[in-house]
Amino acid sequence: MSRLQAEHLYKVFGRQPEDGVRKLEGGADRDELRAEGTTAAVIDASFTVEPGQIFVVMGLSGSGKSTLLRMLNGLLEPTAGRVMFDDQDLTALNPRDLRAVRSRKISMVFQHFALFPHRSVRDNAAYGLEVQGVEREERTRRANEALELCGLAGWEDSWPDELSGGMQQRVGLARALATDADLLLMDESFSALDPLIRRDMQDQLLELQKTLKKTIVFITHDLNEAMRLGDQIAVMRDGRIVQTGTGEDILVRPANDYVRRFVEDVDRTRVLTAGSIMEKAKAGQTLDKKKVADGDSASVTAETPVAELFGPLSDGSTEIEVTGENGELIGVVPRDRLLSVLAEDPRFDELEGGVPEPRDAKVVKSGA
Ligand SMILES: Nc1ncnc2c1ncn2[C@@H]1O[C@H](COP(=O)(O)OP(=O)(O)OP(=O)(O)O)[C@@H](O)[C@H]1O
Ligand SMILES: [Mg+2]
Repeated sequence: MSRLQAEHLYKVFGRQPEDGVRKLEGGADRDELRAEGTTAAVIDASFTVEPGQIFVVMGLSGSGKSTLLRMLNGLLEPTAGRVMFDDQDLTALNPRDLRAVRSRKISMVFQHFALFPHRSVRDNAAYGLEVQGVEREERTRRANEALELCGLAGWEDSWPDELSGGMQQRVGLARALATDADLLLMDESFSALDPLIRRDMQDQLLELQKTLKKTIVFITHDLNEAMRLGDQIAVMRDGRIVQTGTGEDILVRPANDYVRRFVEDVDRTRVLTAGSIMEKAKAGQTLDKKKVADGDSASVTAETPVAELFGPLSDGSTEIEVTGENGELIGVVPRDRLLSVLAEDPRFDELEGGVPEPRDAKVVKSGA
């Protein structure tokens, strides 16, 4: 499996890009360079994507996301810094070797996936394999497999225009999966889809990822999408990564006011889970079977979103037991812990210092 590392990546567009980098290193900001007619698209970006992780890059339009992604697969040469992939310095490869890595190990899925209108769905999915020079028989087999993974079994012989937008986007995903590439780079891949279909695609990607365990860099400007998909999320602003962390880190411990404002509208009760807010079970502590049977204590799994904990607590129970894969007790969420999580919500006034009174008590009572 593959590991991807960006080390102090810079991309400056303009006449003397290296000068631009030196100025940025010396503390200049994007606006100063812009005044001179150069654009600092990506400034000093460093991160590591572990094998099997979904790494989300999130930021507003123009923050440098696509430029960063294009440097990761060598489509754009960094002005400074380097990209390590599978312990290989992509930035040092000659064009031929780079093309070879790009066609075998890296796949890209774009926002508007261009399918070939006069090729069948299968041949569209097999396109990357064709570029690699794979034999027809094997191409067909692998394309069929990938289409099935993406929920398109039965559509292999259709034409692209017979498919809905969401299905066409799946063909794009199937094309990327068929090549067996370890690294998937996805640039706003779901952004053109209707909200419901988009959610389906997110679910499907997460489901596929459980077995495929690709290394994925996923770009989005949608915070909720970032929170749903990202094992790690990098927030970009004006070319710089201003914070990298889990969805929970970013939500609960925003690095600065910019990130704090960015995440203000996120429904944290949907992002935080029982597992992330529970108090860990002490050694030897077991599930209180009697309490559970009497209905004094409810039990949920670690993945249960906080939003779904209000129901079990609404009957007056004082805590919720959190169980692991084999039904064993792994922790408890006391009622007051749940309330204090809500109180940390920026929708409530007094953020600092102790547990404040919720401003809008309704949110607490009817939260489920
Ligand atoms: N080839 C180029 N030449 C000059 N400037 C460029 C070039 N490509 C990108 N830029 C500039 O770099 C900055 C970052 O662009 P980029 O496309 O990476 O942003 P983005 O975060 O992907 O935005 P969006 O969400 O709109 O896709 C922008 O100011 C853009 O105008
Ligand atoms: Mg972009």
